Amino acid sequence: MVKQAALDVNGRLAVEKKGGGMDNNCLSILDKRTNATYEIPFHQGTIRAMDLRKIKTGTEDFGLMTYDPAFMNTASCHSAITFIDGDKGILRYRGYPIEQLAEKCSFLEVAYLLLNGELPTAAQLNDWISIVTHHTMLHESTKHFLEGFRYDAHPMGMFISTLAALATIYPEARNVHDPVTRRLQIARLIGKVPTIAAYTYRHGLGYPYVYPDNDLSYPENLMSMLWKMTEPQFKPNPVMARALDILFILHADHEQNCSANVMRSVGSSQADPFVATAAAAAALWGPLHGGANEEVLRMLDEIGCKDRVPAYIESIKAGKGKLMGFGHRIYKNYDPRARIIKQTAERVFEITGKNPKLEIALELERIALEDEYFIKRKLYPNVDFYSGIIYQAMGFPPEMFTVLFAIPRTAGWLAQWEEMVVDPEQKIARPRQIYTGYSKRDVVPMEKRVA
Ligand code: CMC
Repeated sequence: MVKQAALDVNGRLAVEKKGGGMDNNCLSILDKRTNATYEIPFHQGTIRAMDLRKIKTGTEDFGLMTYDPAFMNTASCHSAITFIDGDKGILRYRGYPIEQLAEKCSFLEVAYLLLNGELPTAAQLNDWISIVTHHTMLHESTKHFLEGFRYDAHPMGMFISTLAALATIYPEARNVHDPVTRRLQIARLIGKVPTIAAYTYRHGLGYPYVYPDNDLSYPENLMSMLWKMTEPQFKPNPVMARALDILFILHADHEQNCSANVMRSVGSSQADPFVATAAAAAALWGPLHGGANEEVLRMLDEIGCKDRVPAYIESIKAGKGKLMGFGHRIYKNYDPRARIIKQTAERVFEITGKNPKLEIALELERIALEDEYFIKRKLYPNVDFYSGIIYQAMGFPPEMFTVLFAIPRTAGWLAQWEEMVVDPEQKIARPRQIYTGYSKRDVVPMEKRVA
């Protein structure tokens, strides 16, 4: 049993075992530069990078670091929120399989689960729905702020800026160590993101913004704020509302992805959750992350028809870009979310009619999954491959797809953020570098400089 890490008589890291002697539960490292050996304790199947610092060639040596661009093999935190087994294609929130959550729960139930660790009772859910529902309104100054954007502003640019602007309305949010304040900002953010999203959509159309309707569910209220015209109350289609709710569940969290890492990193400086969420949303917008759904639609447009799919696949294999909506850092199997989205799409298409892009997408998937290039690299459709096709059938323009991703992901970001804030092991995120620039040199006077 590991008791503690300690330095041995030679100043090397050793591990003591109860009852004496060296522990087997450690990694033995021989540094051939010095012929010194080090015992590095295992910690939940990993080693602590800081334990490597003891490995030195002499007193002047800083100590050994690891080099891991893009965090390919580095765990940055302990987390009890989301579990992914990328080889098996498994995704669970707080231990519950995504398939069961998508079938049996509502998005707000799942958001509660992510934030609190347990599914709510009926009474807890009612309270939670009531809290979120009472935070859906935006301050009028935020509405005016949104009105200031150009008519053709990208909805994600508006969404990100408005999230950051909320920090100016709720300055108490900076009190990140107070649990009551934290929970209030969490409710505000989850309540307000659909309102901001809907306003960005209507802004582009030149329609007046629609205030939230507290009689409607979370997805229904979003639909009302998006599509209500002159009718006194918007009547959402229940199949569409449920499809949107399922899509929200699927997008709610995905452990330490690029945007969650940004949320934690920005939050680690004790910045308030509004600006941290804005930063996370900015990371999401990139085409390799949540911006991929918009790119998938552009790609399907470019391909144009099913017959042109083989030539397009060949162009990808020849290095002309990536197949958008394919591949994943963690999944080396079918993304379980993509499978559920495909099933949900069928229900939506019964109402909206089939999106003609589906035929092209299915053909792309069929050919890619049989092709050696994609098989060898374990490239499968990811969540973004089919989501855009549903969103388009529902009437959303491609620019809105990433905003629709960001609405539910806000719950995941906040769960990750709060877990980080209360984790005593976390500090301000600050990676190291391997400096490759000049060593010291002197400034040459301007008249003596040459280009
Ligand atoms: N099309 C063609 N080739 C690909 C693709 C793709 N979509 N994705 C990866 N590859 C190739 C890549 O070129 C590399 O080949 P090689 O070994 O010959 O150099 C190999 O597969 C490994 O790829 P990688 O770039 O090292 O993988 P990564 O883990 O760094 O990147 C990824 C993951 C998601 C950024 C990447 O697969 C990608 O760019 N996919 C397209 C964009 C996309 O759909 N993003 C959404 C991700 S899921 C939702 C989300 O998280 O937001």
